[in-house]
Amino acid sequence: MRNLNEHNITAETIRRIENTPDSRLQEIMTSLIEHLHDFAREVKLTEAEWIYGIRFLTRTGHLCTDIRQEFILLSDTLGLSQLVVAQNHSRPVGVTEQTVFGPFHVEGAPHRASHGVDIAVGIEGIPLFVTARVLSGRGPVIGALVDVWQADAAGFYDVQETDWEMSQARLRAVFETDSDGRFSYKTILPKSYPIPTDGTVGEMLTATRRSPMRPAHIHFRIAKPGYDMLITHVFAEGDEYLDSDAVFGVRQSCIGNYVRHNAGVAPDGSTVDHPFYVLDYSFSLEPHD
Ligand code: BEZ
Ligand code: FE
Repeated sequence: MRNLNEHNITAETIRRIENTPDSRLQEIMTSLIEHLHDFAREVKLTEAEWIYGIRFLTRTGHLCTDIRQEFILLSDTLGLSQLVVAQNHSRPVGVTEQTVFGPFHVEGAPHRASHGVDIAVGIEGIPLFVTARVLSGRGPVIGALVDVWQADAAGFYDVQETDWEMSQARLRAVFETDSDGRFSYKTILPKSYPIPTDGTVGEMLTATRRSPMRPAHIHFRIAKPGYDMLITHVFAEGDEYLDSDAVFGVRQSCIGNYVRHNAGVAPDGSTVDHPFYVLDYSFSLEPHD
């Protein structure tokens, strides 16, 4: 077909993929083409704007490495990641909700004992004792693998350091729930922090006058065969950014109470000579049928 114009080019582009053997791929591609074309028509995209967009995406790709994923960050800040999470993990009331994974999880974090380990040795911050339990409608979930990871008091994850290796892991670990579904550990109090703004996502946030801030949180991934894997955060009740999270990840069931205590005996029996915090939180998993 020749002499295509801005109206009939959409139907012709879709016609060219009508022999796609994978029907789901065809469905996705057809919709993508329709929406892309509609978008360009709707905003009357100019060539200069289109090439700017291509260069922006190219620069986004060039920023990606094994440990930096600017495309995921772009998806997160455009609300796409949380949209996909929400539509694939709707949870009944009482089950802990799923949130964005984020770019700072790393497979293979050190396995630690279920109770009492300090994952923040040598790191400055206010002590935090996490005492947590993993439950389902059937009772405690025993032997679940719990990945935890969080930023330091300055808002940085260990993986953001240049030439980072797992041997330098800090503020991340994998625990296994005990016979009562519990795990506990010592860390530092998380703070609100900005997502990385030194790349294309930062440019987009600045150009649109958006805040890069995320409310204080700790990440958790809880896995056990027979249950829907839970990827979530526990945010801090009262944080000023709960309603303006840069990546739209806050869910009501994922807000926990980080409670301040005066110096004294901590949940692990140790004596702490300055104020500390305790997060006591129960996760609720959804069993598969
Ligand atoms: C995070 O909380 O680690 C995070 C999540 C999404 C984008 C950037 C950071
Ligand atoms: Fe985070």
